[in-house]
Amino acid sequence: MTPQIKSKERVFEHGEVFTNTREVKAMLNMVQQEAVDINSTFLEPACGNGNFLAEILMRKLKSVEQLYRNDGRLYFINLLRAVASIYGIDIQEDNVKETKERLYNLTFSRCSRLFAQKTPAEIQKAIQMILNRNIQCGNTLTFSDSSRKPLLISEWDIDDKLCITQKDYDYKMMVETGCETNPVCVYPKIQIIPSKKQVA
Ligand SMILES: C[S@@+](CC[C@H](N)C(=O)[O-])C[C@H]1O[C@@H](n2cnc3c(N)ncnc32)[C@H](O)[C@@H]1O
Repeated sequence: MTPQIKSKERVFEHGEVFTNTREVKAMLNMVQQEAVDINSTFLEPACGNGNFLAEILMRKLKSVEQLYRNDGRLYFINLLRAVASIYGIDIQEDNVKETKERLYNLTFSRCSRLFAQKTPAEIQKAIQMILNRNIQCGNTLTFSDSSRKPLLISEWDIDDKLCITQKDYDYKMMVETGCETNPVCVYPKIQIIPSKKQVA
């Protein structure tokens, strides 16, 4: 069984006790429909090393496989959508790093189980870019990131042509308005162009 604590000091300083797999699964079963929906969004405001996020991503990736396993292009578009729908914040940098690595490795292990070919490099880069934004170090009580700037949450639109639009929202405003707030930044659209052979 994975240890639930890293040290007594961390329990004392940060209340860090990880949830074990059995409880994670049981809790997510209570929102089973949302957890298997590729586009439903989840934000874990104290994500630790990603126990909940990894299980949510696993359930979403299984949906992507069931629906799109015979169409490489749609598979990768929806894989990106699944990754982009998951957010995590933790106050401790090592937890953030572990969560990112865990979600990244999980995504690629599922891909390589399905496709003999490697995941296209452009898709890999897009997944890394999204995870680097979505899983962040910060204090959710003060709504600030590790540089004491306001925490920003990115919304991703990934269309069927693999064009990605990123809009950033102020996390504090999202909480205070029930997400009825305008973006603080809208980035120019970027298009992912994977090599045709790899996504056919
Ligand atoms: C009880 S653990 C739960 C971790 C994970 N959610 C799980 O269930 O396995 C609480 C986590 O909250 C983080 N944390 C404590 N205070 C925080 C804060 N103000 N902002 C963000 N994260 C915080 C800790 O670093 C720790 O990883």
